[in-house]
Amino acid sequence: MSEEKAPRILKINVLRFDPNDENDVPHMQTYEVEEAYGMTLFVVLNEIREHQDNSLMFDFVCRAGICGSCSMLVNGRPTLACRTLTSKLDENISLAPLPLFKLIKDLSIYSGEWMRGLNEKLETWIHDKEQEINVDKLEERMEPALADEIYELDRCVECGCCVAACGTIQMKPDFVGAVGLNKVARYHLDPRDKREDEEYYELIGDENGVFGCMSLLGCQDVCPKDLPLQSKIAYLRRMMLTTGLKS
Ligand code: SF4
Ligand code: SF4
Ligand code: FES
Repeated sequence: MSEEKAPRILKINVLRFDPNDENDVPHMQTYEVEEAYGMTLFVVLNEIREHQDNSLMFDFVCRAGICGSCSMLVNGRPTLACRTLTSKLDENISLAPLPLFKLIKDLSIYSGEWMRGLNEKLETWIHDKEQEINVDKLEERMEPALADEIYELDRCVECGCCVAACGTIQMKPDFVGAVGLNKVARYHLDPRDKREDEEYYELIGDENGVFGCMSLLGCQDVCPKDLPLQSKIAYLRRMMLTTGLKS
């Protein structure tokens, strides 16, 4: 008869800090949790909050990799906690909030403010003046392959992992990052968007756009949705180069 292995005891080291408490300083706090089959970091953190420390703050909504709110640094790597199985990690796990975004407390960040600013700056919506004037105008048909290509890019959940992994944003806070460039590529591909290439050039044809990217692939390595970020940045670069030469 084979002996059952005792479950592992996970040591969860969390970077804790409340920026609204003037007496608080950033510090690590360690919790111990018995591992269970199929456990994710979402389950671990809830276990801690329910049974050990209800002051621990972190964000979750969907638990299924869809809302993008549970992004954090797991052993220094940006990822979604709800999609991270503890069985893939060592017993010693370190958790910290994503850098660059406004810290609310502990692992909870306010990425929505950053993402809203990005969407406003890049005007991430369909621009079609004719459609705005004549709302009864029928949309043009789209080839299924093109619709699939656009849908692929629409799968971005604005988790911010690519932003946290990007060395360029650390140096240039106005750089739009892979998330921004992916959104621009998405609208540029969409035949319903009637903006000219020159208008896109105005948006991202500089060092805070495609020409700031150092192509080190950090963004694509960590994107939990496996978006083809590098090929889209290359696509925009080619388009920007020919547009820049024209203007
Ligand atoms: S490839 Fe570009 S966008 Fe991606 S992490 Fe590097 S500098 Fe940032
Ligand atoms: S591109 Fe990927 S890593 Fe970046 S915000 Fe979207 S889903 Fe997250
Ligand atoms: S809780 Fe929604 S992506 Fe993790």
